[in-house]
Amino acid sequence: MTVRLDVITVFPEYLAPLELSLIGKARRDGLLAVHVHDLRDYTHDRHRTVDDTPLGGGAGMVMKPEPWAEAFAAVIADGQCALDADAEPLIVFPNPAGEPFSQPTAQAWSHEPWIIFACGRYEGIDERVYEHLADAGRRVALTSLGDYVLNGGEVAVLAITEAVVRLVPGVVGNPQSLVEESHSDGMLEYPLYTRPARWTDPAGTVREAPEVLLSGNHARIDAWRAEQSQQRTAERRPDLLER
Ligand code: ADE
Repeated sequence: MTVRLDVITVFPEYLAPLELSLIGKARRDGLLAVHVHDLRDYTHDRHRTVDDTPLGGGAGMVMKPEPWAEAFAAVIADGQCALDADAEPLIVFPNPAGEPFSQPTAQAWSHEPWIIFACGRYEGIDERVYEHLADAGRRVALTSLGDYVLNGGEVAVLAITEAVVRLVPGVVGNPQSLVEESHSDGMLEYPLYTRPARWTDPAGTVREAPEVLLSGNHARIDAWRAEQSQQRTAERRPDLLER
């Protein structure tokens, strides 16, 4: 299966990193198709206007509904033409007021054959865009990276895409590495070591890797790692243990 991602943005250049590294390789391997669209291509005035002042007053600008509606119509028609006339994209709006994005969300979305990301800028998008999509029966998700405010959805799309695409089968070379990492089981990962087992740091302190990791006893190693995972989660993220 090839996963299709569309991104609608006023800063297409912001998505250039999607050519790099693991995601770039997934694209070259045919596991992923990425289409970036400039929202301004769906305007009809000389200034290619995508925003206007908020009705009712207030600071900042609000994204106008018309370019968004046109962009969604065109991008959905294009995707249905390429994939299947009945294909229904998941439409994701990165938004600080959305539901928190987390590893289970990434896991669920890695099974989606087609996601459209809609990057808001300024104070946000006219509310009627969401109403219009819902009335048209579209699948819409508002998702937040965390309790802080970015200037727009583009950085969130990069983060979400990386978290989702690495879970698509075939993208990460060794799938076992996805099983043991932080958050895959709701816990933080245990500490990692590599050679040399005995390392003298630049201050002259000799630092030994834990002896158990050199023991070759896999039951002992597994038990040690589970205990470290538990301890680390209790110290750094007690909220994860409470869930
Ligand atoms: N856009 C602006 N802030 C954001 C956040 N915290 N998460 C997702 N999208 C955003």
